[in-house]
Formats: sequence, C-alpha cells, structure tokens
Amino acid sequence: MTRRLLVTGGAGFIGSAFVHHVLAHTDDSVTVLDSFTYAGHRGSLEDLPAERCAVVVGDVADPEVVERLVADVDAVVHFAAESHNDNSLADPSPFLRTNLMGTFNLLEAVRRHGTRFHHISTDEVYGDLALDDPERFTETTPYNPSSPYSATKAGSDLLVRAWVRSFGVQATLSNCSNNYGPRQHVEKFIPRQITNLLDGIRPRLYGTGENVRDWIHAEDHSSAVLRILDAGEIGRTYLIGADGEKSNREVVEMILGLMGRPADDYDHVNDRAGHDLRYAIDAAPLREELGWRPRYRDFEAGLAATIDWYRENERWWRPQKAATEAKYQLVGQ
Ligand code: NAD
Ligand code: TYD
Repeated sequence: MTRRLLVTGGAGFIGSAFVHHVLAHTDDSVTVLDSFTYAGHRGSLEDLPAERCAVVVGDVADPEVVERLVADVDAVVHFAAESHNDNSLADPSPFLRTNLMGTFNLLEAVRRHGTRFHHISTDEVYGDLALDDPERFTETTPYNPSSPYSATKAGSDLLVRAWVRSFGVQATLSNCSNNYGPRQHVEKFIPRQITNLLDGIRPRLYGTGENVRDWIHAEDHSSAVLRILDAGEIGRTYLIGADGEKSNREVVEMILGLMGRPADDYDHVNDRAGHDLRYAIDAAPLREELGWRPRYRDFEAGLAATIDWYRENERWWRPQKAATEAKYQLVGQ
C-alpha cells in the first residue's frame, strides 16, 4: 500500500536525501514542510515529480500549519531542526524554538490524529567517548549532551519517548552518526574543507584535529530510516551508523590527497567550546533485527564522489559561502 508522508526539514541536507530516496525506492508520495531557514535549499528538491512531491513553506513551531498537514498524511518523518553546533554556541534560542517546540507541536498533532511518527535524532545526545574506550553508543547509553544543539535534540527525544509512554503515540526514534554526501551546507566540516580548497583556502582543523566522528553517507541514513518506518518496533530507539570512525585530521588529509594537495596543507584554528572528543555507534540491532546494510562502505570512494559533486555544483553552494566564512572569521575559526 502506498503512503502519504509528511517530511519536515525536507529541503535540508539529510531530509532532501530522504525525499529523493523515498521517491526512487517506493510508490509513496511526500509533502515537505520546511521554513527555508539559511539551511533550506530549493535546489535540493529540483527535478522531483510534482505529482508525488509537494513543498509547503511553513514552520514546525507553528501549531496551525502542523495540524493542517498532519491531518492529511499517513506518517510523519521529522528531520526539521537547527542542526549546527557552532551556531548553537553563538545563539541557542532558535534551537530551543525549533528543536523543542517544533517537536512538541508535531507530537500533539500525531497524538490527535493517531498518525505514525518517526523522529530523527543524533548520536550527540550521548555526549562523547574517550579515544581508547572500547565501548560504542547503544540505545541504552545514558544521555549526556554537551552543546545547546545536542541538549535540545536530547530534549526532543525525551518528549517523543514520553508521548509514546503516556499517550500511546505510534513513534520510533533514530540516533545517527555524522552524515556526509552531496547537498550538505558549507558550514559543516567536510563541505567547508572541500569548498575552501576549491576557493584556494587551506582547510581548518579545530584544536588538535584528533576528535573522532563516525561517518555515514546520507543515502545510507535514508535507507535505514525507511527500513525503521516500515518495520521498526513502536517506542524503540535505533542507532544508525556504518562503522566509519575517522579523526578529523585523517579526513582532512584524505580530502587534500583526493584534491591533489600535500597532506599537511591545512591550518589549526581555535577549538570549539565543549568540543566532543569522539562519537562511535553500535548499530547491531538495526542490522540484526531489521536486516539493514549500508551501501557506501568505502569512505574514500564516497568522499571522492562528494568532492566531485561540489566541483560540479558551485551554483548550489556559492551563494552561502562568503557569509558562512565571515561568521567563522569572527570567532577565529
Ligand atoms: P540541515 O540544517 O541541513 O537542514 C535542516 C532543515 O530544517 C532545513 O531545510 C531548514 O530550513 C529546516 N528547518 C529549520 N527550522 C525549521 C522550522 N522551524 N520549521 C520548518 N523547517 C525548519 O540539517 P541536516 O544536517 O539535514 O539534519 C537533519 C536532521 O538530522 C536534524 O534533526 C539533525 O539533528 C539530524 N542529524 C543530523 C546529522 C548530521 O550529520 N548532519 C547526524 C545525525 C542526525
Ligand atoms: P561538524 O560538521 O560541525 O559536525 P558535528 O559538530 O555535529 O560533529 O563538525 C565535525 C567535526 O569537525 C567536529 O569535530 C568539529 C570539526 N570541525 C573542524 O575541525 N573544522 C571545521 O571547519 C568545522 C566546521 C568542524
């Protein structure tokens, strides 16, 4: 049976990857709800079939638009968020509004309509791990967020869990590791370094560069979310990761190599306040219980394809670049 899906934040990096994935791999139709903040991009939803994909400009923190759209769909997949840690350190207030109030509005609407809900979250809710810790994050790791961004995502997860338990909302949650791939905003680590190099600027590593992130391609994140939407157990939290741990220094060296530059051609800049040291995901339940497998297992090949995408799509990222770099310059990054 085909479904009508409401995808919040569908004009952002991962939300748009998910919309493309759903339209390519199912017969479902999609309504995107996106307020087009600095992070939303019309160009990320170009060339999609209009009869299966509608875009509504609206705010998840506006209960009226949320109520009207939720009334008309079979399921909601909630990506919309303020998503960048550095921005949350400069001004936390939009993070509270969108990530907490937006999630609350959606939960109230799906509660009224009995609509299936999937909440997209991050591994950053668990805080960080030591570099030599043999453990990885699991669905029972205690929450210990470090930044205003991760604290609001943690809060939104707890709202979803409470609405499941107290009101019987039909929800699942997923906490994913760091995503990479095409159409990611140039404020984020990998696209920032690629577009810097395209502009003749040296990559910028925060602090020592020893911090570790667990990289997954946005396409693999999307296939995992679709699998959970189809077969996940209600009330359950699934961790999504693809065994992609790399230090930031290793990633920068790889980008430099792929772009034909010496491996040490980067600068160290001011560290991020409260900078989490390491994230690492154990995705065994998703693999073993739901049979999910990532397709992008070769990080270097995925990175090379991502670099090609930024080379070929300057029209997409150029308008955001100067303002993004100006913000970083203010804080010595
Ligand atoms: P993004 O910043 O690229 O996109 C966010 C989208 O949400 C944008 O299109 C923006 O316009 C929209 N939006 C923001 N506020 C809104 C509001 N009030 N109402 C409606 N739309 C609004 O973010 P992303 O990297 O694609 O992240 C998407 C989701 O995935 C977030 O919930 C994030 O926490 C989660 N996540 C991200 C990563 C990552 O590596 N980027 C990893 C794990 C989880
Ligand atoms: P980011 O893409 O902001 O994701 P997150 O904060 O969610 O992990 O950053 C990824 C890592 O890269 C993080 O350890 C911070 C670091 N970083 C840099 O070293 N230089 C940069 O220019 C940026 C934007 C991030």
